[in-house]
Amino acid sequence: MTIDYSFTRYLAAKKSVDDRALNRAVWKALIRALPPQPRVLEIGAGIGTMAERVLEWGLMDEGTYTAVDVDPANIAQAQQRLASSHLQVELEAIDVFDLVAREQGRRQWDLLIAHAVLDLFDAPTALPQLFSLLRPGGLFYFTLNFDGATILQPTIDPAFDALVETLYHRTMDERITAGKPSGDSQTGRHLFHHLPTAGAEILAAGSSDWVVFGNDGRYPQDEAYFLHFIIHTMHGALNGRTDLDQERFAAWIAQRHAQIETGELVYIAHQLDFVGRREAGE
Ligand SMILES: C[S@@+](CC[C@H](N)C(=O)[O-])C[C@H]1O[C@@H](n2cnc3c(N)ncnc32)[C@H](O)[C@@H]1O
Repeated sequence: MTIDYSFTRYLAAKKSVDDRALNRAVWKALIRALPPQPRVLEIGAGIGTMAERVLEWGLMDEGTYTAVDVDPANIAQAQQRLASSHLQVELEAIDVFDLVAREQGRRQWDLLIAHAVLDLFDAPTALPQLFSLLRPGGLFYFTLNFDGATILQPTIDPAFDALVETLYHRTMDERITAGKPSGDSQTGRHLFHHLPTAGAEILAAGSSDWVVFGNDGRYPQDEAYFLHFIIHTMHGALNGRTDLDQERFAAWIAQRHAQIETGELVYIAHQLDFVGRREAGE
Protein backbone atom coordinates (compact mmCIF):
# COMPACT_ATOMS: atom_id res chain seq x y z
CA MET A 1 0.00 0.00 0.00
CA THR A 2 1.55 3.29 -1.10
CA ILE A 3 -0.13 6.50 -0.05
CA ASP A 4 0.61 9.92 -1.47
CA TYR A 5 0.63 12.17 1.59
CA SER A 6 -0.67 15.62 0.77
CA PHE A 7 -1.27 18.20 3.51
CA THR A 8 -3.98 19.98 1.53
CA ARG A 9 -5.90 16.72 0.99
CA TYR A 10 -5.50 16.02 4.73
CA LEU A 11 -7.04 19.42 5.55
CA ALA A 12 -9.94 18.72 3.16
CA ALA A 13 -10.46 15.24 4.69
CA LYS A 14 -10.35 16.77 8.19
CA LYS A 15 -13.38 18.97 7.48
CA SER A 16 -16.08 16.35 8.16
CA VAL A 17 -14.21 15.23 11.32
CA ASP A 18 -14.07 18.86 12.52
CA ASP A 19 -17.75 19.40 11.67
CA ARG A 20 -18.69 16.65 14.13
CA ALA A 21 -16.16 17.76 16.74
CA LEU A 22 -16.79 21.48 17.11
CA ASN A 23 -18.51 22.26 20.40
CA ARG A 24 -22.03 23.48 19.62
CA ALA A 25 -22.52 25.34 22.95
CA VAL A 26 -19.35 27.34 22.28
CA TRP A 27 -20.49 27.98 18.70
CA LYS A 28 -23.85 29.28 19.97
CA ALA A 29 -22.09 31.57 22.45
CA LEU A 30 -20.12 32.97 19.49
CA ILE A 31 -23.33 33.58 17.50
CA ARG A 32 -24.86 35.43 20.48
CA ALA A 33 -21.81 37.67 20.99
CA LEU A 34 -21.01 38.49 17.34
CA PRO A 35 -21.84 42.06 16.22
CA PRO A 36 -23.60 42.68 12.87
CA GLN A 37 -21.41 42.94 9.75
CA PRO A 38 -18.31 41.75 11.60
CA ARG A 39 -14.77 42.12 10.33
CA VAL A 40 -13.32 38.64 10.80
CA LEU A 41 -9.67 37.56 10.71
CA GLU A 42 -8.72 33.90 10.58
CA ILE A 43 -5.08 32.94 11.14
CA GLY A 44 -3.56 29.63 10.04
CA ALA A 45 -6.63 29.25 7.84
CA GLY A 46 -5.25 26.35 5.77
CA ILE A 47 -7.35 25.73 2.64
CA GLY A 48 -10.31 27.77 3.91
CA THR A 49 -12.59 25.09 5.38
CA MET A 50 -13.50 27.20 8.42
CA ALA A 51 -14.48 30.11 6.16
CA GLU A 52 -16.72 27.69 4.25
CA ARG A 53 -18.21 26.47 7.53
CA VAL A 54 -18.90 30.02 8.73
CA LEU A 55 -21.03 30.45 5.59
CA GLU A 56 -22.58 26.96 5.61
CA TRP A 57 -23.54 27.22 9.28
CA GLY A 58 -24.84 30.76 8.89
CA LEU A 59 -22.57 32.59 11.33
CA MET A 60 -22.64 35.73 9.18
CA ASP A 61 -24.29 36.92 5.96
CA GLU A 62 -22.57 40.25 5.80
CA GLY A 63 -19.17 41.56 6.78
CA THR A 64 -15.61 40.84 5.71
CA TYR A 65 -13.47 37.72 6.14
CA THR A 66 -9.69 37.95 6.02
CA ALA A 67 -7.86 34.61 6.06
CA VAL A 68 -4.09 34.21 6.31
CA ASP A 69 -1.79 31.21 6.28
CA VAL A 70 1.97 31.02 6.11
CA ASP A 71 1.84 28.38 3.34
CA PRO A 72 1.14 29.78 -0.16
CA ALA A 73 -0.05 26.32 -1.37
CA ASN A 74 -2.83 26.39 1.24
CA ILE A 75 -3.86 29.93 0.28
CA ALA A 76 -3.93 28.94 -3.42
CA GLN A 77 -6.40 26.13 -2.56
CA ALA A 78 -8.43 28.47 -0.37
CA GLN A 79 -8.68 30.89 -3.30
CA GLN A 80 -10.26 28.15 -5.43
CA ARG A 81 -12.58 26.87 -2.71
CA LEU A 82 -13.85 30.33 -1.74
CA ALA A 83 -14.08 31.80 -5.26
CA SER A 84 -17.89 31.74 -5.33
CA SER A 85 -18.37 33.00 -1.75
CA HIS A 86 -20.83 35.88 -1.39
CA LEU A 87 -18.79 37.27 1.51
CA GLN A 88 -16.00 39.72 0.89
CA VAL A 89 -13.02 37.38 1.39
CA GLU A 90 -9.41 38.56 1.47
CA LEU A 91 -6.68 35.89 1.44
CA GLU A 92 -2.98 36.34 2.07
CA ALA A 93 0.00 34.02 2.42
CA ILE A 94 1.83 35.53 5.38
CA ASP A 95 3.22 34.46 8.75
CA VAL A 96 0.79 35.75 11.36
CA PHE A 97 3.62 37.25 13.41
CA ASP A 98 4.76 39.22 10.34
CA LEU A 99 1.14 40.39 10.02
CA VAL A 100 1.23 41.53 13.67
CA ALA A 101 4.49 43.41 13.04
CA ARG A 102 3.13 44.99 9.84
CA GLU A 103 -0.21 46.08 11.30
CA GLN A 104 1.16 47.35 14.64
CA GLY A 105 -2.41 47.56 15.91
CA ARG A 106 -3.50 49.77 12.98
CA ARG A 107 -6.12 47.40 11.59
CA GLN A 108 -8.19 45.74 14.30
CA TRP A 109 -10.77 43.05 13.68
CA ASP A 110 -14.05 42.26 15.51
CA LEU A 111 -13.40 38.51 15.60
CA LEU A 112 -10.18 36.51 15.53
CA ILE A 113 -10.43 32.82 14.59
CA ALA A 114 -7.66 30.26 15.12
CA HIS A 115 -8.82 26.72 14.34
CA ALA A 116 -6.41 23.83 15.05
CA VAL A 117 -3.58 26.37 15.21
CA LEU A 118 -2.88 27.67 18.72
CA ASP A 119 -1.29 24.41 19.87
CA LEU A 120 1.48 25.08 17.32
CA PHE A 121 2.51 28.28 19.10
CA ASP A 122 3.98 29.21 22.48
CA ALA A 123 0.69 30.55 23.88
CA PRO A 124 2.05 32.90 26.60
CA THR A 125 4.15 34.85 24.08
CA ALA A 126 1.81 34.45 21.09
CA LEU A 127 -1.50 35.53 22.68
CA PRO A 128 -0.59 39.16 23.49
CA GLN A 129 0.64 39.56 19.89
CA LEU A 130 -2.50 37.96 18.45
CA PHE A 131 -4.74 40.15 20.61
CA SER A 132 -3.14 43.28 19.08
CA LEU A 133 -5.07 42.25 15.93
CA LEU A 134 -8.39 42.57 17.80
CA ARG A 135 -10.16 45.80 18.70
CA PRO A 136 -10.60 46.30 22.47
CA GLY A 137 -13.63 44.20 23.41
CA GLY A 138 -13.22 42.16 20.20
CA LEU A 139 -14.03 38.45 20.17
CA PHE A 140 -11.86 35.39 19.70
CA TYR A 141 -12.89 31.89 18.67
CA PHE A 142 -10.03 29.47 19.35
CA THR A 143 -11.01 25.93 18.46
CA LEU A 144 -9.61 22.39 18.38
CA ASN A 145 -6.85 23.12 20.88
CA PHE A 146 -5.18 19.78 21.49
CA ASP A 147 -5.34 18.69 25.10
CA GLY A 148 -3.16 15.71 25.85
CA ALA A 149 -5.01 12.56 24.83
CA THR A 150 -4.49 10.48 21.69
CA ILE A 151 -6.58 7.32 21.88
CA LEU A 152 -6.23 4.52 19.35
CA GLN A 153 -8.33 1.36 19.50
CA PRO A 154 -8.09 -1.61 19.35
CA THR A 155 -5.17 -1.88 21.75
CA ILE A 156 -2.10 -3.52 20.24
CA ASP A 157 -0.02 -3.71 23.41
CA PRO A 158 -1.07 -1.58 26.41
CA ALA A 159 2.46 -0.65 27.53
CA PHE A 160 3.83 -0.01 24.03
CA ASP A 161 0.71 1.94 22.96
CA ALA A 162 1.09 4.14 26.06
CA LEU A 163 4.80 4.69 25.38
CA VAL A 164 4.09 5.78 21.79
CA GLU A 165 1.43 8.20 23.02
CA THR A 166 3.73 9.68 25.69
CA LEU A 167 6.66 10.12 23.31
CA TYR A 168 4.43 11.53 20.58
CA HIS A 169 3.07 14.17 22.96
CA ARG A 170 6.61 14.94 24.11
CA THR A 171 7.55 15.84 20.51
CA MET A 172 4.85 18.54 20.66
CA ASP A 173 6.16 19.86 24.00
CA GLU A 174 9.77 19.95 22.76
CA ARG A 175 9.01 21.45 19.33
CA ILE A 176 11.23 24.39 18.36
CA THR A 177 10.30 26.62 15.40
CA ALA A 178 12.64 29.41 14.29
CA GLY A 179 14.68 28.86 17.45
CA LYS A 180 11.72 29.31 19.81
CA PRO A 181 9.56 26.87 21.78
CA SER A 182 6.35 26.33 19.83
CA GLY A 183 3.72 23.95 21.02
CA ASP A 184 2.18 22.32 24.03
CA SER A 185 0.43 18.95 24.09
CA GLN A 186 -1.88 20.32 26.83
CA THR A 187 -2.69 23.64 25.16
CA GLY A 188 -6.43 23.22 25.80
CA ARG A 189 -6.35 23.11 29.61
CA HIS A 190 -3.53 25.67 29.82
CA LEU A 191 -5.61 28.26 27.94
CA PHE A 192 -7.78 28.62 31.06
CA HIS A 193 -4.69 30.29 32.55
CA HIS A 194 -3.04 31.84 29.49
CA LEU A 195 -6.15 33.66 28.18
CA PRO A 196 -6.92 35.71 31.33
CA THR A 197 -3.19 36.37 31.80
CA ALA A 198 -3.12 37.89 28.29
CA GLY A 199 -6.07 40.15 29.16
CA ALA A 200 -8.99 38.11 27.87
CA GLU A 201 -12.31 36.98 29.28
CA ILE A 202 -13.56 33.47 28.49
CA LEU A 203 -17.27 33.48 27.58
CA ALA A 204 -17.63 29.75 26.87
CA ALA A 205 -15.44 26.66 26.65
CA GLY A 206 -16.06 22.99 25.92
CA SER A 207 -14.59 19.86 24.43
CA SER A 208 -14.28 19.30 20.68
CA ASP A 209 -12.80 15.82 20.52
CA TRP A 210 -12.13 14.20 17.19
CA VAL A 211 -13.92 10.85 17.13
CA VAL A 212 -13.35 8.77 13.99
CA PHE A 213 -14.68 5.25 13.54
CA GLY A 214 -15.81 2.98 10.72
CA ASN A 215 -19.15 1.40 9.96
CA ASP A 216 -19.22 -1.94 8.13
CA GLY A 217 -15.51 -1.57 7.47
CA ARG A 218 -15.80 1.87 5.92
CA TYR A 219 -15.19 5.42 7.12
CA PRO A 220 -17.31 8.38 6.00
CA GLN A 221 -16.13 10.70 3.23
CA ASP A 222 -12.32 10.88 3.02
CA GLU A 223 -11.77 10.02 6.72
CA ALA A 224 -9.71 6.88 5.98
CA TYR A 225 -7.18 9.24 4.36
CA PHE A 226 -7.38 11.52 7.39
CA LEU A 227 -6.52 8.53 9.62
CA HIS A 228 -3.64 7.38 7.41
CA PHE A 229 -2.26 10.92 7.57
CA ILE A 230 -2.47 10.99 11.38
CA ILE A 231 -0.63 7.64 11.68
CA HIS A 232 1.93 8.85 9.12
CA THR A 233 2.45 12.01 11.20
CA MET A 234 3.03 9.94 14.34
CA HIS A 235 5.51 7.83 12.36
CA GLY A 236 7.37 10.91 11.17
CA ALA A 237 7.47 12.40 14.67
CA LEU A 238 9.03 9.33 16.29
CA ASN A 239 10.96 7.78 13.42
CA GLY A 240 14.61 7.15 14.37
CA ARG A 241 14.25 7.97 18.06
CA THR A 242 16.60 5.92 20.18
CA ASP A 243 14.19 5.82 23.16
CA LEU A 244 11.76 3.73 21.10
CA ASP A 245 12.40 0.22 19.73
CA GLN A 246 12.30 1.17 16.03
CA GLU A 247 11.66 -2.32 14.66
CA ARG A 248 8.70 -2.75 16.94
CA PHE A 249 7.51 0.78 16.17
CA ALA A 250 7.61 0.13 12.40
CA ALA A 251 5.47 -2.99 12.92
CA TRP A 252 3.09 -1.01 15.15
CA ILE A 253 2.70 1.70 12.49
CA ALA A 254 2.09 -0.93 9.79
CA GLN A 255 -0.56 -2.56 11.98
CA ARG A 256 -2.34 0.78 12.55
CA HIS A 257 -2.43 1.44 8.77
CA ALA A 258 -3.79 -2.10 8.27
CA GLN A 259 -6.51 -1.44 10.87
CA ILE A 260 -7.60 1.57 8.80
CA GLU A 261 -7.81 -0.60 5.66
CA THR A 262 -10.20 -2.99 7.44
CA GLY A 263 -12.16 -0.14 9.06
CA GLU A 264 -11.23 -1.33 12.56
CA LEU A 265 -9.26 1.65 13.83
CA VAL A 266 -10.99 4.05 16.20
CA TYR A 267 -9.22 7.37 16.79
CA ILE A 268 -10.06 9.91 19.47
CA ALA A 269 -8.12 13.12 20.12
CA HIS A 270 -9.09 15.29 23.06
CA GLN A 271 -9.40 18.99 22.20
CA LEU A 272 -11.06 22.12 23.62
CA ASP A 273 -12.85 25.12 22.08
CA PHE A 274 -12.99 28.64 23.51
CA VAL A 275 -14.88 31.81 22.76
CA GLY A 276 -14.16 35.05 24.59
CA ARG A 277 -13.31 38.72 24.47
CA ARG A 278 -10.23 40.83 24.57
CA GLU A 279 -10.62 43.21 27.52
CA ALA A 280 -12.20 46.51 26.52
CA GLY A 281 -9.42 48.49 28.25
CA GLU A 282 -9.71 51.88 29.94
C1 LIG B 1 -3.16 22.08 11.61
S1 LIG B 1 -3.22 23.23 10.31
C2 LIG B 1 -4.88 23.85 10.44
C3 LIG B 1 -5.34 24.57 9.20
C4 LIG B 1 -6.81 25.02 9.23
N1 LIG B 1 -7.05 25.95 10.31
C5 LIG B 1 -7.72 23.82 9.34
O1 LIG B 1 -8.04 23.43 10.45
O2 LIG B 1 -8.06 23.24 8.30
C6 LIG B 1 -2.26 24.60 10.92
C7 LIG B 1 -2.11 25.71 9.88
O3 LIG B 1 -1.43 26.81 10.48
C8 LIG B 1 -0.54 27.35 9.51
N2 LIG B 1 0.49 28.08 10.26
C9 LIG B 1 1.42 27.56 11.09
N3 LIG B 1 2.18 28.54 11.61
C10 LIG B 1 1.72 29.70 11.09
C11 LIG B 1 2.12 31.05 11.23
N4 LIG B 1 3.14 31.41 12.02
N5 LIG B 1 1.42 32.00 10.55
C12 LIG B 1 0.38 31.64 9.75
N6 LIG B 1 -0.02 30.37 9.56
C13 LIG B 1 0.64 29.41 10.23
C14 LIG B 1 -0.05 26.15 8.73
O4 LIG B 1 0.44 26.49 7.45
C15 LIG B 1 -1.31 25.28 8.67
O5 LIG B 1 -2.06 25.54 7.52
